[in-house]
Amino acid sequence: MRIVLLGAPGSGKGTQAKLLVEKYKIPQMSTGDLLRAEVAAGTDLGKRAKAAMDAGQLVTDEIVLGMIQARLAKPDAKSGFILDGFPRNIPQAQSLDAMLARLGQPLQLALLVDVDTDVLLKRLTGRRTCGSCGAIYNIYFSAPKTANKCDKCSSALTHRSDDNEQTVANRLKVYQQQTAPLVNYYKAQGKLRTVRGVGAVSAIFKNVTDIIESQIRPLADVMGKIESAAARQAAKAKAAAVAKAAAAKAASKVAKAPPKAKAVIPATKPKPLAKKAMPKKAAVKKAAPKAKPKKAHKPVPKAKKVK
Ligand code: AP5
Repeated sequence: MRIVLLGAPGSGKGTQAKLLVEKYKIPQMSTGDLLRAEVAAGTDLGKRAKAAMDAGQLVTDEIVLGMIQARLAKPDAKSGFILDGFPRNIPQAQSLDAMLARLGQPLQLALLVDVDTDVLLKRLTGRRTCGSCGAIYNIYFSAPKTANKCDKCSSALTHRSDDNEQTVANRLKVYQQQTAPLVNYYKAQGKLRTVRGVGAVSAIFKNVTDIIESQIRPLADVMGKIESAAARQAAKAKAAAVAKAAAAKAASKVAKAPPKAKAVIPATKPKPLAKKAMPKKAAVKKAAPKAKPKKAHKPVPKAKKVK
């Protein structure tokens, strides 16, 4: 499942993302959280990002894209992801599309959490976050049982430095100018769905999961069926090819082997003489000169005695 959560600051993206992580066991990737971790660790990247964050402006695309690329390359992203707070402008959305195309994992859904602006200020200024487990509270709408203590792990709650009125006003302005155009971007791709982000968190979550189940699950099921049918077809074709190759090999062996019957029937043709055994013409001539019969010496007649 590959989802982008869109929405103004304070619309409840983070709150819904955490519930989705629990339900679907896929990671939440929040560029805001990643950047805050860099700032807290005092890294170079964190130092470069801090000024923009404190002013309620966007951090440069270069920083954010590098961070998200590294995050998407981690093994847990293979099972899917919930992108929260990214992309924030059209160039980021285009880069994301390109990255996911390279991975062969296109985005399936862009879910807009829609909340009226007048509600957002109270949500943001009243937000408190657990510094240890990341649980989100609100002193106006969902206060912890004990003030400033996390209900889940008892750690201290923190108030984000950019959740003051002036910075929130800037963040909302930046959202309208740079992030809101993404609504049309994803609408044009046919991937945009909207959920109303007001009312009980659990009721919103029910609507969110209904959208996911109706938009992504059936598609994933169909894709799964198509993929397994294709895999079966490919296995069949492979088995047929292997059988054909084996048959062809066997046939060529038979054709090459001397027929068994010939081996049994004795050869009728006389074997040609081996070269060495063939007498050469010259050799024959030399070897067989007909010896002239020696002339028989006529016996010399004995001289007649002279009387
Ligand atoms: P980031 O951390 O992403 O902040 P944001 O987008 O402004 O969103 P928030 O986290 O403030 O709000 P949310 O929608 O998650 O609401 P939440 O669920 O917490 O970004 C911070 C900064 O980092 C940016 O300003 C920028 O500088 C930088 N940055 C981040 N990503 C960037 C990027 N891609 N490119 C460039 N720069 C980037 O809820 C808010 C409050 O409301 C909570 O108290 C919660 O309890 C309460 N609440 C939630 N739902 C309800 C409800 N249904 N009823 C009542 N209260 C509710």
